[in-house]
Amino acid sequence: MEILSKNIVLKDYIPTGTPSTKNFNVREIPIKISKDKEVLVKNLWISVDPYMRTRMTDRKNYIPPFTLNEPMDGSAIGEVIETNSKIFSKGDLVYSFCGWRDYFVTNEENLEKIKPIDVPIQAYLGPLGFTGHTAYVGLFNIGNLQPEKTVLVSSAAGAVGSMVCQFAKIMGCKVIASTGTDEKVEWLKNELLVDHAFNYKKVENLVLYFKDKCPDGFDFYFDNVGGEFLESVIYRMKNFGKIVICGRISQMNATSPTGLKNMAHVLVKRLTIRGFLIFDHLKDRAKFEKDVSKWIKEGKLQWKETVVQGLENSPEAFANLLEGKNIGKMLIKI
Ligand SMILES: NC(=O)c1ccc[n+]([C@@H]2O[C@H](COP(=O)([O-])OP(=O)(O)OC[C@H]3O[C@@H](n4cnc5c(N)ncnc54)[C@H](OP(=O)(O)O)[C@@H]3O)[C@@H](O)[C@H]2O)c1
Repeated sequence: MEILSKNIVLKDYIPTGTPSTKNFNVREIPIKISKDKEVLVKNLWISVDPYMRTRMTDRKNYIPPFTLNEPMDGSAIGEVIETNSKIFSKGDLVYSFCGWRDYFVTNEENLEKIKPIDVPIQAYLGPLGFTGHTAYVGLFNIGNLQPEKTVLVSSAAGAVGSMVCQFAKIMGCKVIASTGTDEKVEWLKNELLVDHAFNYKKVENLVLYFKDKCPDGFDFYFDNVGGEFLESVIYRMKNFGKIVICGRISQMNATSPTGLKNMAHVLVKRLTIRGFLIFDHLKDRAKFEKDVSKWIKEGKLQWKETVVQGLENSPEAFANLLEGKNIGKMLIKI
């Protein structure tokens, strides 16, 4: 069967500033299965993620820039509609990296079957997917988090951050959560039960604020934002503290990125600062899946989604993500 596949393409690279819908086009192309092992998939949910911003520049990075006027890619969950594969049957739910489009044809090797536990399927883009895995790897594999530590989390009401807060609470840690709206602060305090949450946009001097609210300092900082926030945190880290660099969203649209001026504190406090990319850990998912599935079944984890309806609205959803208009995972429902 031939189908018209609608996909979103990037028109021009965006070196700085916030992307807008003007930077994207919707394109339609006819597709059909023509070879052995090919599968036709209808996407149900697609994920927009901050790292995609760096792919909208032509700068070299760990993942190549999007090709202009070609379908963009990213995580998605879909349903098999037609199949020339012995592995996948009609109706199977699959994870792929073929986001930003409604229908696509691909070889079976590019798909992963999802065997859902008792959760909505889109949780495989959230707590049981890429974002939950990022939180888990950052805290445990990279940071080797130990119980009863004082943990600071930035972008704490986002997809990754909200998992980090809850994983750290499960470990018996004290969690301090930073986020950008009062509504998010309330969610973190009242439902995720962090020990302290605050709106960083209302704080004039972060160093003094941390000194006041957490006079003993932090053992562990899970950094999602970078920039001046990271610099302020370094002043308040305890000796031998750990900082895991997960992201630098405050710098992604910046015209002049800010850097650390207080490396002397890293030396004197003997801090460990380590970055990581989840792409290096994709094969190492068994323990993450076992632990997170167990925590979900035990009712220890909760999550929110900000759902935007319709593929055409995905560029706007992406821009909104960078502006903090999401609580929890930003998703597009096709
Ligand atoms: N290392 C890896 O492999 C890996 C994998 C996945 C994600 N990440 C990184 O993890 C971080 C979180 O990703 P996510 O998917 O969970 O996104 P997210 O936190 O759900 O959404 C992005 C959030 O960033 C915050 N933000 C935007 N501009 C900011 C600024 N100037 N300063 C501080 N916060 C700002 C906004 O929340 P507020 O309202 O709180 O400002 C926004 O909601 C990102 O930095 C991302 O690049 C890294």
